[in-house]
Amino acid sequence: MGLRKRYRLRGVGTAVRHITAVDDVSIQMSVGETVAVVGESGCGKSTLAKLITQLETPDAGEMVFDRRPVRVRTRRERLAFSRNVQMVFQDPYGSLTPHFRVGTLVAEPLRIHRLETRPRLVSRVAEVLESVGLDAEIAKRFPHELSGGQRQRVSIARASATRPQLIVCDEPVSALDVSVRSQIVNLLLDLQRDLGLSYLFISHDLALVDHIADVVCVMYLGRIVEQAPAREFFAAPRHPYSRALIASSPVPDPRRRSPAPAVLGAVELGVAPAGCRFRKRCPLAVAICAENDPPLHAVAAGHLVACHRGNEFGVPTAFPEQSV
Ligand SMILES: Nc1ncnc2c1ncn2[C@@H]1O[C@H](COP(=O)(O)OP(=O)(O)OP(=O)(O)O)[C@@H](O)[C@H]1O
Ligand code: SF4
Ligand SMILES: [Mg+2]
Repeated sequence: MGLRKRYRLRGVGTAVRHITAVDDVSIQMSVGETVAVVGESGCGKSTLAKLITQLETPDAGEMVFDRRPVRVRTRRERLAFSRNVQMVFQDPYGSLTPHFRVGTLVAEPLRIHRLETRPRLVSRVAEVLESVGLDAEIAKRFPHELSGGQRQRVSIARASATRPQLIVCDEPVSALDVSVRSQIVNLLLDLQRDLGLSYLFISHDLALVDHIADVVCVMYLGRIVEQAPAREFFAAPRHPYSRALIASSPVPDPRRRSPAPAVLGAVELGVAPAGCRFRKRCPLAVAICAENDPPLHAVAAGHLVACHRGNEFGVPTAFPEQSV
């Protein structure tokens, strides 16, 4: 709740700049739900993922899990947390220690969390590998002896071995060959069904998000600017930035593509202007947008938007022309 993370940037000479990668972000999730986080490069998605998984410490705010604030100050607390909250990264090769065999890599979480006795470990590793569609024989291989898809299956096996409640997936298929992407997505959906997992799913691919998400959160310059049930988000996005994202993305059903005026110019990373942070690129900005930062507010049940004009844009075909 209210997560914030600021990084110090080292400039040329003695100049010190800061960048607020995540700025007052709160996301609530229910059991078995997939919440997708979308937004352009540098908007803070991976930083948010690291804050949620406690790989980074927030400057403000706290993570509440199972109705309790998360504390990971001791090894014991960190272990208890990581058993329930795991992460799958974009680059499976980078996230697997190269000189360990697959069997050792998959056994590691079971061993660390003491979920299996030593005599049972080998057969349990075989079961976990099987659950992600891999032959037990693969346990003898090293990560570099696997295909990209197989490596990502091993990462997913490691993440799901402890039967966590939440897996944060940071672009888990975008580094993979197109031909194996849908296999990995189907695997994640199967595991979700079998283990009752919740996913926080970061992706640039709106067609994929449309396929798997229950809820969509749109991030812009560190903030969530829109959050809505997926069906409603794609049918009637409210924030001009969301509308531009959807309009520029290949959505499978063209009837669901909403017309939207083009966004102006490129984002200046880490630099949020006064007022609405999107206003310099927003074709619909009006005077108040420069004066007040619009709060994230409810426009319908479960549908939040941070836009002064968010109430005007409920119907896909009713997107008005720029008024100023
Ligand atoms: N360790 C760090 N030190 C300094 N700045 C950082 C650090 N990590 C991230 N940033 C900055 O914070 C901002 C958000 O980065 P982040 O990686 O969270 O973006 P992202 O939305 O995941 O982007 P992408 O889609 O390209 O993966 C960026 O401007 C980035 O340069
Ligand atoms: S508040 Fe104003 S500038 Fe910001 S998105 Fe809405 S219309 Fe555009
Ligand atoms: Mg990222």
